[in-house]
Amino acid sequence: MKKNILSYSIPLFTFLVILLLASCTKEVERLPFQADELFSAEEKAVLAKKLNVEKFNYIRNVTKEEQYKVFLGRVLFYDNQLSADKSVSCESCHKQELAFSDNVAFSRGASGNHTERNSIALASFSSFEGHYGGGEPTDVAANSFFWDGRADKISAQLSETFANPNEMGMKLHELGDRVGSLDYAKVLYDKAFPGQNLTSQNIINAIAAFVNQIESAHAPFDNGLQHQFKVEERFAEFSDAENNGKQLFLNNCASCHGFSLSESFRLKFGNNDHLASNGLDIEYEDNGLGRHTSLVEDNGIFKIPGIRNIALTGPYMHDGRFETLEEVVDFYSENIQAHPNLSEKLKDEDGKPIRMNFNETEKAELVAFLGTLTGTSHMTDINLSTPFN
Ligand code: HEC
Ligand code: HEC
Repeated sequence: MKKNILSYSIPLFTFLVILLLASCTKEVERLPFQADELFSAEEKAVLAKKLNVEKFNYIRNVTKEEQYKVFLGRVLFYDNQLSADKSVSCESCHKQELAFSDNVAFSRGASGNHTERNSIALASFSSFEGHYGGGEPTDVAANSFFWDGRADKISAQLSETFANPNEMGMKLHELGDRVGSLDYAKVLYDKAFPGQNLTSQNIINAIAAFVNQIESAHAPFDNGLQHQFKVEERFAEFSDAENNGKQLFLNNCASCHGFSLSESFRLKFGNNDHLASNGLDIEYEDNGLGRHTSLVEDNGIFKIPGIRNIALTGPYMHDGRFETLEEVVDFYSENIQAHPNLSEKLKDEDGKPIRMNFNETEKAELVAFLGTLTGTSHMTDINLSTPFN
């Protein structure tokens, strides 16, 4: 038996895990796209030059106004024209088939610059909007966008993303003109914001509306849980290795990664439960939250990432230092470092970094379990796919 690092009772804990892994996996109701109701023939002709209007085939159950925003946001998410040298879009670093992450440690952004951190998977929770509560600062996961949680709402996060010279590299005030110069985007903008000037704030709100639509469900884990309901019981559809891995995860990992996925319960555990140091280094090159606040006690502290779809989102950690999940598990097994801010959850009674000391079988089981968190819905959802021809 591994040391159980949970300081919470198992039933409460189980409940949380269920909440966090299972919430929002229900099918979102779709309404058929009524092209003639939404766009005039003229508008459709403009859109069809660049966009695959057929791909606007099914829409979410939202108001018409909101739907126009989501269409606009989706187009802009996939549009290279919104970066300084028109070479990258959000999609360059957030690819649908990779749970909206990419597969390199540092990504190439505008003007050939590279990011300083690993791209974050936007489908690492069952629902982006559900997890962040729509991203307003009063909500559960306030202050939690980016690896150091420095942006407290999605609009602030997106403003930074646009202005960051390593990502989009745009002057915010240029955004309106850029969008205005694209006839298809202008048609959508006028639908989304009738009678309004082209503002960066509206543009950012539209992209946020699209990002908030990102959901991921139908992972084997979800299916198992649906039938079994209790997360600690063996799932009939799991292999022995996956079931054993699930137990190892509950005992060793879910105290952090469980809560980080929980949508409604985080507040009960204080606002900073979504940030921690997992002891990657004794001294960090990038101090995470500490780099942002310049406080020694914040050094080495990073956001606890969502791990839904984790098998798709390597390389891992804020700097992409681990190529594979095997390397991640090796790290937790033998290599947690005695950083001064190491989370209490990863210390033993003497305050030393715990050694989970998994044997080879257990390591493989843990990796097998992590593989059960890969959903399919986000990959096949036509509403999340590129709208371009
Ligand atoms: C060049 C690569 C690149 C581009 C382009 C890019 N991003 Fe990112 N994105 C990243 C990286 C890297 C991070 C993490 C940065 C950090 O933590 O400091 C990130 C973080 C995010 C986050 C925070 C997620 C979370 O859970 O905290 C969101 C949301 C996001 N990006 C959306 C977008 C959108 C929308 C666009 C287009 C407007 C975009 N990104 C363009 C690389 C990119
Ligand atoms: C004390 C809380 C804590 C515990 C316990 C914990 N982790 Fe983590 N985990 C983190 C933090 C914080 C990060 C991000 C660290 C960074 O990038 O600097 C992370 C990162 C990860 C990542 C990389 C995610 C990504 O998107 O790159 C994986 C995979 C992971 N952990 C799996 C596990 C597994 C498996 C266990 C149990 C063996 C575990 N974690 C236990 C806090 C924790």
